[in-house]
Amino acid sequence: MLPRTNPTQTNVWQQLKDHQSELSTQHMRDWFLNDSIRFKEFSLEAEGILFDFSKNIITKKTLKLLKELFDECGLPEAIKAQFEGKKINETEGRAVLHTALRNFDAQPIIVDRVDVMPEVQALRDKMKSFSKRIISGEWKGYSDKKISDIVNIGIGGSSLGPSMVYDALSPYQINHIACHFVSNVDAAHLFEKIKNLNPETTLFIIASKTFTTQETMTNANSAKVWFLQNGGKQSDVSKHFVAVSTNQTAVEDFGIDIENMFGFWDWVGGRYSLWSPIGLSLCCGLGYENFEALLKGAFEMDKHFTTASFHENAPVLMAAIGIWYTNFWNSESEAIIPYNQNMHRFAAYFQQGNMESNGKSVDRNGKKIDYQTGPIIWGQPGTNGQHAFFQLIHQGTRLIPCDFIGFAQSNYDKPDHHQKLMSNFFAQTEALMKGKTKGELESENVAENLIPFKVFDGNKPTTSIVAPKLTPESLGKLIACYEHKIFTQGVIWNIFSFDQWGVELGKSLAKSILPKLKDESPLTIHDSSTAGLINYFRNNQ
Ligand code: F6P
Repeated sequence: MLPRTNPTQTNVWQQLKDHQSELSTQHMRDWFLNDSIRFKEFSLEAEGILFDFSKNIITKKTLKLLKELFDECGLPEAIKAQFEGKKINETEGRAVLHTALRNFDAQPIIVDRVDVMPEVQALRDKMKSFSKRIISGEWKGYSDKKISDIVNIGIGGSSLGPSMVYDALSPYQINHIACHFVSNVDAAHLFEKIKNLNPETTLFIIASKTFTTQETMTNANSAKVWFLQNGGKQSDVSKHFVAVSTNQTAVEDFGIDIENMFGFWDWVGGRYSLWSPIGLSLCCGLGYENFEALLKGAFEMDKHFTTASFHENAPVLMAAIGIWYTNFWNSESEAIIPYNQNMHRFAAYFQQGNMESNGKSVDRNGKKIDYQTGPIIWGQPGTNGQHAFFQLIHQGTRLIPCDFIGFAQSNYDKPDHHQKLMSNFFAQTEALMKGKTKGELESENVAENLIPFKVFDGNKPTTSIVAPKLTPESLGKLIACYEHKIFTQGVIWNIFSFDQWGVELGKSLAKSILPKLKDESPLTIHDSSTAGLINYFRNNQ
């Protein structure tokens, strides 16, 4: 279904390696000095967002070679296969169509000979009318009071997206409804969140694609017990618990009215499910219109991704530049640094998106891979990051490509703050690129013995992404852009990006160890370290 090209066996791979050694002795500072239009040549606007790639260690030749690599690896065909609903998640036999959830075209999208768009639209309508009832107060709790608090119980893709977006769009939050997100099976998470909530006015959304995830079901059951012990009756559960899942039987077994279940499809991967009813908390907490604006923003980026040529395609270029550093410059991680405090969960969200998708070491032929795949993703907002980890990016020994994300306008009418914030963004990317030379320090009369410590090598790559303002639309575009970057890189690395077998082993071992924490059964099947840890726990619990 997807091509099966080993990227290292392509004609262009060796040329890219040679090209890297050619560039390894050059400095971006000189490129900017000698080329006044470098910014123009290496930046583009996609759907109103500026992507400045010029502060990367790339030349026109780099992009030409990377385009050849992408063509040889069959990227155009792969994009077509994804958007046409082909079962490109081959190890699970599934299509990958989260893009259908944000499709607003009249064109049908076919999976197994069925147009899925009417069902998608019906689901959107159900989410809209449900959230309107919650927001207007028409939906009442058991004591006839309106809902004031929504607790989304889910983990991974059933939590990270909604919680990231809810915070990112703080200025759009509905005043009289507060959303809370509980994911960790650690009781601290649930009980700290609900300790001040009123069960009469609290609605729990149990969000789990499978409705079997240990953490989510444990938290959901404890939430139900809390509800029943604090005034609610079994017959009231349907007014306070709704489900988002693909598993109707398990939802019914939990005691949730099927009327209040929001189903979706196996062609929506967990970490790409934000656009599905997994976003129900957002419909209630931000208003359906804002949720739909998020979808529409993503849809605009989908159209860009599927139609723009390589040199004009923002997600494809992000993917290309990421591969350039990972495979030819041996970089191990990438930082995502939003200059926006409300986007404080953006990097965490794409930690799952990226590392669960492309953290693979077996190719699409089932063969062990001998080149690097998905990088480690990390980051936190500027300017906080500047006072934490920037030292290492500037003067450490590792090459860490960074994405800087910012906005021309603030959501808060405080120009002084915003100008200071963005001056830091621009200054940091400039400093990372230029560095500071010995000559510059000498001309500033810096003491000779301090010069080695004050030299900044510079030549540290950054991509700057600037949108006019953080809105539901622009956030939708940014998220979709990063999703497409991940997909594109997976295609080139010849891996399956939409399964996650790697998280299964730990899950099944945890199930087998759990009973042993409750009894004294022998631990002979475990290694001595694991047995020692379990014994310590048993003796001290
Ligand atoms: O972490 C593994 C994973 O399967 C994710 O892909 C998914 O987002 C998460 O667990 C939650 O799964 P579910 O929605 O089925 O509870």
